[in-house]
Amino acid sequence: MGFEVFDLITEIYDYQKNKPIRLLDKVSLKANPGEIMAIIGAIGSGKSTFIQHLNGLKKADNGLILIHNESYPNQSREWLKKVGIVQQFSQKQLFLTTVADEIAFAAKNFEITYDLNHLCALVDLDTTLLARHPRTLSGGQMRKVAIASVLAAQPEILILDEPFAGLDWQAQTELTQALNKLAANGMTIALVTHDLNFVYEHCQKVVVFSDGKIIAEKTPKQLFTEDTNWQELGIEATPLLQTNFVTFDEQAVKKWLISGEVDNETY
Ligand SMILES: Nc1ncnc2c1ncn2[C@@H]1O[C@H](COP(=O)(O)OP(=O)(O)OP(=O)(O)O)[C@@H](O)[C@H]1O
Ligand SMILES: [Mg+2]
Repeated sequence: MGFEVFDLITEIYDYQKNKPIRLLDKVSLKANPGEIMAIIGAIGSGKSTFIQHLNGLKKADNGLILIHNESYPNQSREWLKKVGIVQQFSQKQLFLTTVADEIAFAAKNFEITYDLNHLCALVDLDTTLLARHPRTLSGGQMRKVAIASVLAAQPEILILDEPFAGLDWQAQTELTQALNKLAANGMTIALVTHDLNFVYEHCQKVVVFSDGKIIAEKTPKQLFTEDTNWQELGIEATPLLQTNFVTFDEQAVKKWLISGEVDNETY
């Protein structure tokens, strides 16, 4: 169950070069319920393009997408209801005049009962903001509204494009807790992120995109313990990764991730 994609190929035509360019090149992967899957890769490697296929925002030239083993007509109501997407620039998703209307929009559209207080609590959004115009909110607050509005429609699959970008530490922690809770309740979550600490700590699977292709699909532990060439993947190595630990002590790494303290006995 969850979702599965097989051999997605998407091309656009480059009129200057007079030839097609492949944005997605035979992308196949599987995401399971209760898991958080990370999608990482260099800038321009096709991450956003890929996730936009997952609810039909973009249509592949070839390949198949199955949601719980079923395929759906492009952008059909049933498909849109099952997959909720929070886009990379989530403020662009907001178009109504109050936060309350914004959060309720998809739920109303799908005739789903919703509870604004509960939805605000899910993303830790202050309910006093409900009467405000979404455009008057801060970037982090807008992100929370976009996520709440997607959750209001009770999707079974949640896709987020760089949900931590621009959030402060507290907002990141709150969002991490919310995502873990949703996954624990059986939601399938896939997110694009550049935050490798989050990947290591909270994801069960990580797929690496490069030039429209998936070049690795592993558990974070495999990716972080193998002699991964981060530069080749186009990913900026954090201080943690620069130590290039091939055989590391997991407890010491966790301590580093949480407190920033390096255990001198280990290193
Ligand atoms: N409509 C389009 N026309 C031309 N090129 C496109 C189009 N859509 C996407 N691309 C190109 O496809 C590539 C992948 O873009 P995409 O937005 O998926 O990258 P990304 O991995 O999400 O990058 P980032 O980390 O910067 O968000 C880029 O080179 C982009 O310029
Ligand atoms: Mg992107």
